[in-house]
Amino acid sequence: MSYRILVCDEISEAGLENLKREAEVIRSDDSKYLGKVDAIIVRSRTKVTRELVSRSSPRLRVIGRAGVGVDNIDLDAAQEHGIIVVNTPEATTISVAEHTLGLILSLAHNIPQGNQSMKEGSWEKANLRGLGLYNKTLGIIGMGRIGSTLARLAAGFNMTILGCDVNLNENEIRSQGAEPIEFEDLIKRSDYVSLHVSLSETTKGLINAEALSKMKRSAHLISTSRGGVIDESALLNALESDEIAAAALDVFENEPPGLTPLIMHPKVIVTPHIAAQTEESQTRTALDIASEVLAALMNKPLRWRII
Ligand code: MLT
Repeated sequence: MSYRILVCDEISEAGLENLKREAEVIRSDDSKYLGKVDAIIVRSRTKVTRELVSRSSPRLRVIGRAGVGVDNIDLDAAQEHGIIVVNTPEATTISVAEHTLGLILSLAHNIPQGNQSMKEGSWEKANLRGLGLYNKTLGIIGMGRIGSTLARLAAGFNMTILGCDVNLNENEIRSQGAEPIEFEDLIKRSDYVSLHVSLSETTKGLINAEALSKMKRSAHLISTSRGGVIDESALLNALESDEIAAAALDVFENEPPGLTPLIMHPKVIVTPHIAAQTEESQTRTALDIASEVLAALMNKPLRWRII
């Protein structure tokens, strides 16, 4: 077989099978293969650094990110070496939107706390009074695929949906099911603020001490986007000083974060970056990355080329 593909992180079997029909597939994270393969496939665990890229060149032609965020890939280095980077932006949309809604409902109804307290032998009721979704305002920061899917799901709860997105105009945001609004007004008006932006120089620390101080004291903050979009020490301070009510996080500045004060905080619900981790979406992701990487190697048209 003429192509060699290194699969560094776990991807579903269906995608591997498709790759194996056209290429020799090596499943390993051993750096000894760098320089000897035409394509590398990673999820978020493997960091495709400048060093990794230059050790892989000149044979490496394609980097496939099985997932959405490409913040673990040094795109400048890839571009300098003429390497194509592709991802799978559609495969996990519904799963992440559903998980976000699950976190919102968990915050609203204290579901994790109720579960935990019963398993510790108590029957808490008075302390676990929630704040429902009906007639509440959900502010969605980032109205791309996931944000707009969340808007559609949340509309079924009779919520007012506000949306902001620097890449979309007012009509586009409206057509995705949200009332267009500036960032500052969104954080002031929302009962639930959900983040759906990628991590970049512009979005790093977007939710900082200043932003948190403008939110309602009863507000809930949810992030299934990327660690780093929230300044975690500012969030801890805001929770400790009752500036906002609670937060639910699936993503963290450092993953895994360990037992930090933020993770252990009683007003914080956490999940270990599993929003995209359903059986169906991981199968779709593997199939999509397999077909996209093979298409790139065969010089066929690409659906999701980043560079
Ligand atoms: C993504 O960017 O696709 C998700 O956050 C899941 C992941 O990084 O594996």
